[in-house]
Amino acid sequence: TKAGYPHFMLKEIHEQPQGIRETLNRRLDENNQIMFDDINLDKSNIDSITNIYIIACGTAYNAGLQGKFALQKIAGIKADADIASEFRYSDPFIDENTLVILVSQSGETLDTLAALREAKSKGATTLAITNVIGSSIAREADNVIYTWAGPEIAVASTKAYTTQVVVFYMLALYLADIKENISKENYSHIVDELLAIPDKVQSIIETEEKIKKIAEKIKDNTNGFFLGRGLDYSIATEASLKMKEVAYMHTEAFASGELKHGTIALIEENVPVVAIATQDNLFEKSLSNIKEVKARGAYVIGVTQISNRTIEEVADEVIFIPETDDLIAGITAIVPLQLLAYYVSILRGLDVDKPRNLAKSVTVE
Ligand code: M6R
Repeated sequence: TKAGYPHFMLKEIHEQPQGIRETLNRRLDENNQIMFDDINLDKSNIDSITNIYIIACGTAYNAGLQGKFALQKIAGIKADADIASEFRYSDPFIDENTLVILVSQSGETLDTLAALREAKSKGATTLAITNVIGSSIAREADNVIYTWAGPEIAVASTKAYTTQVVVFYMLALYLADIKENISKENYSHIVDELLAIPDKVQSIIETEEKIKKIAEKIKDNTNGFFLGRGLDYSIATEASLKMKEVAYMHTEAFASGELKHGTIALIEENVPVVAIATQDNLFEKSLSNIKEVKARGAYVIGVTQISNRTIEEVADEVIFIPETDDLIAGITAIVPLQLLAYYVSILRGLDVDKPRNLAKSVTVE
């Protein structure tokens, strides 16, 4: 049931603190050490992994983009994310030293399942991240880490995404620890920051009214853009998908650095541009990108951490997210943008839980 909410999508956005908490708690022992004891990877297997492929579709793929970032930055292992339907036909370089991670809320997506079979046939070790116990992908993968988002009914994936990203961070920490790539202090610091995420997500959800007002301002636009650099670009990709699928607004995610290479030609008077700028080391660069699009008339909605107040001088609207370690800011930054897509859809009078032409689980090619 919708438990008093008007739509499943809104209910599921609101369930994120709980889903994230559960996903963490299931895998932390009393000393806050990550337990993946059931995963069949010992130190020698892990040391021999030369590269990781993350394979998924849609939102799960976008979670994989954050996963790539986590695995490279924290575990120091080369990682790539690919779309399942592309991966299958790309003659991927896979051998027994490759770890292939399949991400799927339902565990039934046909292309992801086919990619899993392909990876296994080439001798890779496979690991599934899925929300459905006993699903096809869970059964066929060598190893499984479940997300504990609870059943996701709305076609648009929200709580599955944030819990998938949380799993990637735990996995990255676990691998880093076994590879002795991380200090005890840094490990505990990131675990503590992860444990603080549910309350931060809750506080973002409580700013819903403000996000609804922003949705009112952009609801009649036919186009929109999401900009970001590094981790923020992967958030832009997911935010853009949400806006397309539930609000039918034509949006694109652009890597900020690509603006000058063509895409800035699309910026015109009053077009909404959501500029995601959560990373301190890239903040100045993001500000100058905002100025560039502002100068061409864009209506800029900035998304940043609370300490970055200077963004208010250049953006038309700012959505502040609570301060967190930059490494994991993607988990919080997506939440207001899920809400933005939800409200634009509602204001347009659309069927937000069942957008046209879409099915919850895609079991055909
Ligand atoms: O069940 P899966 O995670 O494998 O599904 C993958 C995609 O079909 C899914 O994420 C889809 O993109 C959603 N509609 C996104 O909100």
